[in-house]
Amino acid sequence: MTASSKTLCFAKLAALGLICSVLAFILYFEPPSPVCQSTLANEEYYEGEDPNEKPIVLLWFWPLGVKFDFKACSTYYNIDSCVLTADRSLYSKAQGVIFYHKNIAWHLRNMPQGPRPAFQKWIWFNVESPTNTAKIPGLDNLFNLTLSYRRDAGVTVRNELTIRETENKDELVLPRKDKLVCWIVSNKNKRTGAAVRERYYQDLSKHVKIHVFGIAHAGHLLKYEDYYRTIGSCKFYLSFENSIHRDYITEKVNGPLVAGTIPVVLGPPRENYEQFLPSDAFIHVNDFPDAEALAQFLLYLDTKDEEYLRYFEWRKFYSVTPHLLSIKNEFIQPVCLACDHMSRDRDYHVVHDLYKWYSSKK
Ligand SMILES: *[C@@H]1O[C@H](CO)[C@@H](O)[C@H](O)[C@H]1NC(C)=O
Repeated sequence: MTASSKTLCFAKLAALGLICSVLAFILYFEPPSPVCQSTLANEEYYEGEDPNEKPIVLLWFWPLGVKFDFKACSTYYNIDSCVLTADRSLYSKAQGVIFYHKNIAWHLRNMPQGPRPAFQKWIWFNVESPTNTAKIPGLDNLFNLTLSYRRDAGVTVRNELTIRETENKDELVLPRKDKLVCWIVSNKNKRTGAAVRERYYQDLSKHVKIHVFGIAHAGHLLKYEDYYRTIGSCKFYLSFENSIHRDYITEKVNGPLVAGTIPVVLGPPRENYEQFLPSDAFIHVNDFPDAEALAQFLLYLDTKDEEYLRYFEWRKFYSVTPHLLSIKNEFIQPVCLACDHMSRDRDYHVVHDLYKWYSSKK
């Protein structure tokens, strides 16, 4: 993609995002969540400040110690509306401070200790599911914004499809397929909630051959540059989440959508997926009474090209954006989104019951 087409793409995305959020608000309005988004604008905090000056957003910890270049925000996401920094000496000037949950020490001793400027917003950054989120005490009434995959987060981090402006009339060309079902998996630790998908995989593999990559099943480790190509060479890809929570629909689905492969999803109910994806873009394990019935359906589709191709109809109306690969890159997008949010958000917020909200089903 060229820089200008990226810019255009982003502008469209932003406009669509706005329309979609208004629609989503109308469609899915729910009673207020414990995350209080008070309407009290705190304009007095900004008095005397140049409104055109970019806010400083401080990343308090490098997430899991992984450093990256903040320039990536403008390179990949066309976001340049704040000054991102990891320099803690700018703390007292920062309008936003981002804290990656896994880095927070149990006794909060690695959090800022000095006075907290009244205008400053603390941003709770977490992309792990509730099952994999340690309940560090003392975090209620501490943060002002949440940065997570949930649709009701202050700043939502997702890989979203983009609605095309005009129908894509190009003939669909899928990559050549030489495998039926594939799965990349690096974790089968039961404590992370992965037992459900592990059991389903064991059942499914009795009825259909599954090509497994990744370290969990002694499969060979894929290089990042082989990720999309490998997924593309399979007719179906197992997009099995490690734990099952509302809205917890990760890059495991984005990968096959980008690669031109049908995702077979295991996660929250189909209705939840349909809030983010066209209903005919994926196969849900719950569409079948058991793994054997699913396997039969996949084997059946393997022989019916026309029916198989129907799962790609959505591409006429939507486009999909590849997500950045590697641990090094996975934190970039959320941090950029927080930066963008901070340049627009002048409201006062307090996150009261952090874990109660995060583990709530609604
Ligand atoms: C941020 O939250 C703290 C308390 O948790 C609150 O005292 C402060 O006023 C809030 N600030 C903003 C700008 O929302």
